Amino acid sequence: MPENVPNDGALSRHEPVLLHEITAMLIPTDRSPKRILDCTLGLGGHARALLELAGTDARLLGMDADESNVILARRNLASLGGRVRLFHANFADADEVLREAGWDKVDAILADLGFASNQMDEPRRGLSFQQDGPLDMRLNRNSPRTAADIVNQAGEKELADLIYQFGEERYSRRIARAIVQARKLGRLERTAELADLVRRAYPAPARRTRHGVHPATRTFQALRIAVNDELHSLETLLNLLPEMLAVGGRAAIISFHSLEDRRVKQCFAALVESERATVLTKKPITASEAEIAANPRSRSAKLRGIEMR
Ligand SMILES: C[S@@+](CC[C@H](N)C(=O)[O-])C[C@H]1O[C@@H](n2cnc3c(N)ncnc32)[C@H](O)[C@@H]1O
Repeated sequence: MPENVPNDGALSRHEPVLLHEITAMLIPTDRSPKRILDCTLGLGGHARALLELAGTDARLLGMDADESNVILARRNLASLGGRVRLFHANFADADEVLREAGWDKVDAILADLGFASNQMDEPRRGLSFQQDGPLDMRLNRNSPRTAADIVNQAGEKELADLIYQFGEERYSRRIARAIVQARKLGRLERTAELADLVRRAYPAPARRTRHGVHPATRTFQALRIAVNDELHSLETLLNLLPEMLAVGGRAAIISFHSLEDRRVKQCFAALVESERATVLTKKPITASEAEIAANPRSRSAKLRGIEMR
């Protein structure tokens, strides 16, 4: 049992992003998917809606890299009984999950990337600079490397490159220099400490939080991507899509930043180019004003979809 299994309160507060758009894309009016693969269960919000709408003969395999969320999703989906099988796994291993379940192909694949609000809201996960916590950031508690390991062990150039590449942070060099200076006085262990250090590394006029964006946002994104090897996992999943999807099967991917969206867009374009798939979204689908007002996290969500030929 993992250390912090969240309570059910997280379930009642959870709002799946682009819910209507996802169900419309993965359950077309002329046919219903029988085999659904949810690569990012989270709290099981999308999974539940998909199963409820797809009909009683639809089955779902779900996975999450975070064991606490597999447990929460299991609770949320308990009433669906044997129609659901859940795994604690990284979606980079989605093909193995399929094999283990004895499934060959699937009709629908969903990946709702990033992290869930319950993970963000838990200071002990160290994902947020809004609340102080340990510099951890691992979605999977069995992963060997925490954000503190990177921040305290990487060389200055390595840190600057990482913050630039994964955070698209223009002040990456100043931030890396400040980190290396600060750790001479002792290990950096806390999110608040790092957030403040990044803010002070910014040139003074740029330091103020603009449009609600804290100067540490990009550095935290970069560290989270590095700790969880997020882009590599996404690329592996994208490469697996054609072999996992049946003809006529659909994949829907929601990304939350440009590094992810670019990869999804390029992969889908290559599948269309090689005539293996049809694109369902010429432009990415984004959240309505009403959804953004109700759930600010949906502001940066971009949904893209394909159908296999
Ligand atoms: C935005 S949440 C998904 C929310 C979900 N769609 C729902 O309706 O409840 C993203 C989830 O993906 C998981 N995740 C992130 N990267 C993953 C990976 N490489 N493999 C498996 N799960 C991953 C996170 O732990 C998190 O629970």
